[in-house]
Amino acid sequence: AIEQRITELLSQMTLEEKAGQLTQYSGRELTGPASTRKTDLLNSIRGGQVGSMLNVKGVQDTRAIQAEALKSRLHIPLLFGLDVIHGYQTVFPVPLAEAASWDMAAIRQSAHVAAREAAAAGIHWTFAPMVDVGRDPRWGRVMEGAGEDTYLGSQIARARVLGFQGERLGGTDAVMACAKHFAAYGAAIAGRDYNAVDLSPQQLWEVYLPPFKAAVDAGAATFMNSFNTLNGVPATGSKYLQRDILKGQWQYPGFVVSDWGSIREMVSWGYASDISEASRHAITAGNDMDMENDAYFDALPKLVQQGKVDVALVDDAVRRILRKKFELGLFDDPYKFSDAKREKKVFSDPQHRVAARDVARKSMVLLKNERNALPLAAQGKIALIGPLAKSKRDLAGGWTVIADTTQIVSAFEGISQRAGKKAQLLYAKGCDATGDSGAGFAQAVETAKQADVIVLCLGETWDMSGEAKSRADISLPGVQEELFLALKATGKPIVAVLFAGRPMIFNAIADQADAILYAWFPGSEGGRALSDVLFGDYNPAGKLPSTFPRLMGQIPISYQQYSTGRPVVDPKNIRYRSAYIDAPNTPRYAFGHGLSYTTFKYSDLKVSQPRMTVAETVQVSCTLTNTGSRAGEEVVQLYLRDKVASVVRPSKSLRTSAKSASSPAKARR
Ligand code: IFM
Repeated sequence: AIEQRITELLSQMTLEEKAGQLTQYSGRELTGPASTRKTDLLNSIRGGQVGSMLNVKGVQDTRAIQAEALKSRLHIPLLFGLDVIHGYQTVFPVPLAEAASWDMAAIRQSAHVAAREAAAAGIHWTFAPMVDVGRDPRWGRVMEGAGEDTYLGSQIARARVLGFQGERLGGTDAVMACAKHFAAYGAAIAGRDYNAVDLSPQQLWEVYLPPFKAAVDAGAATFMNSFNTLNGVPATGSKYLQRDILKGQWQYPGFVVSDWGSIREMVSWGYASDISEASRHAITAGNDMDMENDAYFDALPKLVQQGKVDVALVDDAVRRILRKKFELGLFDDPYKFSDAKREKKVFSDPQHRVAARDVARKSMVLLKNERNALPLAAQGKIALIGPLAKSKRDLAGGWTVIADTTQIVSAFEGISQRAGKKAQLLYAKGCDATGDSGAGFAQAVETAKQADVIVLCLGETWDMSGEAKSRADISLPGVQEELFLALKATGKPIVAVLFAGRPMIFNAIADQADAILYAWFPGSEGGRALSDVLFGDYNPAGKLPSTFPRLMGQIPISYQQYSTGRPVVDPKNIRYRSAYIDAPNTPRYAFGHGLSYTTFKYSDLKVSQPRMTVAETVQVSCTLTNTGSRAGEEVVQLYLRDKVASVVRPSKSLRTSAKSASSPAKARR
């Protein structure tokens, strides 16, 4: 019935109205370069020249603007899209952090809560999940993805799509998902955002495409293409990616939106001579909606009239977009998602903070723990030092769209609430996160001298990772490592807590700290989740979703290296071997690494048959025993290698994982 209603509507639409449906503009807020658009927006909306808006949020605004769209000749409602990346009002850990939980139920719940809040505030569509594999930590957007691994990334893509959308579109606690950025955006040369991508077919198909396929299989309603070129062709104008693979081979029924300005950027790439030609490339390649390009609305009707674009391509794009408006139920009730009462009720649901705390503590990774530095005892004097110790804004990370970041629980607040009266908390900032002033060191050292243990909160500021936040040096910024060394000289035990949206390099801390907890940007409940882990109320189980290099020169680095003809057999003898003469090949912390307060023993490894063909299944089992004194969780990871193949294979590839909880001395199979 929906298809018939679309056909009827299409038959009434002028070419201009069709191009309008394919057009999306931003509201007041900009999430890309300032617009060059010529349009008087409200007038265009009333004229049926706009199909969707982004960056309009809240019941009041979405209602008001929808009302304008309904004044258009055919009364077609608008779609409201927004970057709901890790929470809407309740801020969840950044996606890379959540990936470290390896916990699909928690990740799905996080996406569900975000969708529930957004859908109550007039939003129909989130530009998430970002399913780009990221193997270069210089690239700021590693923060928004699931890390370096294709298998883990595919599992998470599925969990997030289902979390955002629920079982089917149309429910008022769900929004449309958007798998982005199609494709290979994470492989930008030298980790520089918006840069060109040059990839072998093997890398494209084996590493970068599978999470997108997982998103299609999970029913992702929409896709966004990407800013990069792929082997010389802008992804936005790539017929190979969008028509041949996505809409052809994968039979994708949803629609594809461009990235912000990525149609007109084909002119800057030198791939199109003007916006009209760029529009022709984009529609021909399968790009359905124009996000903030000011391209399609002017160009497409003329291109069709000149016979340069077949109207069937335009009709197909319009049909795909209208289908989603019907599926969401917007033709029956255009204000369905803009409900002030629901907005108020949903925003004050205490369960949302519970879910945020749950996934935040599951995301934290214990990188090092010597001399039982952790868990802390809630007694004596604890010196809480560092530029991020009292910060709220930084703990939220980037892409916090409407969240009131003053509601974030800081490390200081979380720890002091938990420590209560039994422990005394001392504080000194020590230095800023960036900059080169060591003026605060002396006071920090004096504070540390009075304490039994130092908890040192260091890291990136919230705006150092994310879009357009590539770094040529991913070291802990500013003089933070110098602050660590000054405190180290006091001889007091140091627990380093690191906040960041990407892997960083911090060799002095890695070598000399007693314990290191990687807390990422943990969101609204960050301080409480942190104190849960520090005091042992929760036993950490996070595992790194990305390799942490020792040195910049090792980047790009991932555990999935191809085997080589001259592997390093003996690290002491690297002559004529595939090695560096000034650094080991090994990373500082490997993909999958993460400690616990308990210990686990793996035994009884069994494989049902020694060889397998492509069509066969092999059963692998082992016994996992908690050999420590606390209950804990372990992520069991299974890696495979095809030892002899028709193309050279990576030396290992993650193929499955299972998170298992156990009590001391209890074995699980
Ligand atoms: O969704 C984003 C995208 O990831 C990067 N450019 C802007 C879009 C909309 O804000």
